[in-house]
Amino acid sequence: DKANYRHFMAKEIYEQPEVVGQTLARYVDMAAKRIALPLELPFDFNDITRILITACGTASYAGHVAKYWFERLARIPVEIDVASELRYREAPLRKGDLAIVISQSGETADALAALRYAKAQGLHTISVVNVPTSTIARESETVLPTLAGPEIGVASTKAFTCQLMVMAALAIAAGKQRRELSDIDELKLVGELIEVPRLIAEALAIEPQIEKLARDIAKSRAVLYFGRGTSFPVALEGALKLKEVSYIHAEGYAAGELKHGPIALIDESMPVVVIAPYDRVFEKTVSNMQEVAARAGNIILMTDATGASKATVDALVTIVLPDVAATFTPMIYAIAVQLLAYHTAVVMGADVDQPRNLAKSVTVE
Ligand code: M6R
Repeated sequence: DKANYRHFMAKEIYEQPEVVGQTLARYVDMAAKRIALPLELPFDFNDITRILITACGTASYAGHVAKYWFERLARIPVEIDVASELRYREAPLRKGDLAIVISQSGETADALAALRYAKAQGLHTISVVNVPTSTIARESETVLPTLAGPEIGVASTKAFTCQLMVMAALAIAAGKQRRELSDIDELKLVGELIEVPRLIAEALAIEPQIEKLARDIAKSRAVLYFGRGTSFPVALEGALKLKEVSYIHAEGYAAGELKHGPIALIDESMPVVVIAPYDRVFEKTVSNMQEVAARAGNIILMTDATGASKATVDALVTIVLPDVAATFTPMIYAIAVQLLAYHTAVVMGADVDQPRNLAKSVTVE
């Protein structure tokens, strides 16, 4: 049931500190600050030349974030592909490589077909699923569960952050096995991961500010989301979430793509949500923001305290999120874009948990 919440989506957003914490505890030895996967993998990451990550919708954005993690922490090339494209294009895959399928329901038809395709090509397969009895779980070589609990709202929220937690742990495990990460690196990264559930709880405190902002966003015809690095997939996720529950047109872009087209859309009526934690690409994102400001776009800056003090741009609204290790910002900034989509939909009186035309689990292609 919805407990004291108006919608399942709100309840599920608020469950994230707990369920992300449970997922973390399954993949990490909390006392030793080491990765401890729940099972032994049937391959060695040193033998993997390339990882293929495939999924649909929000799950694919979790995969998109994980691409950055595997490349940075384990130096493994990663391809991320939406499952509906992968399954039909007869992509050449290398036997013995690794395919990772991410799915909340474990029943998504395209994701299942992509899994079967990878298996048929002789790849190792891992599924990151929330429903352990699902078809995708049953058919994959290795199952890495997310412990999000049942997700009822059609818009995926807590499953996404739990998928990120599992992928983060797996990327660190890969980096360790390939000796790209030392024992000390592992201690540091796991120490940072352990902070995440508490920081998610802190991030939820921005809700009153988001509620106020949602009243303005609800009047917009369209909204743009920008981010660089791992904030790029968070921008994609923010735009998808807003579209799904509020029916406002939204697009997510890599901030550097702005001047290659979307800047043409910017005028004083266009809200632009900029996801910019103070990380290694922050300054680059700030220069993109300046381009938006110069065209009178309404900037909604999602950043941390340092970013807020260093951003040399007048934002309409600055949402200050808790400080988090730069690697793991997506799990915190996801909360902000989820809350923004939710409250905008509530202001507009939309059917938040059952948006029109959507199904929780897409079992047809
Ligand atoms: O159950 P799955 O994770 O495989 O579902 C994938 C997508 O259908 C799903 O994430 C969809 O995009 C959600 N409605 C997003 O909120």
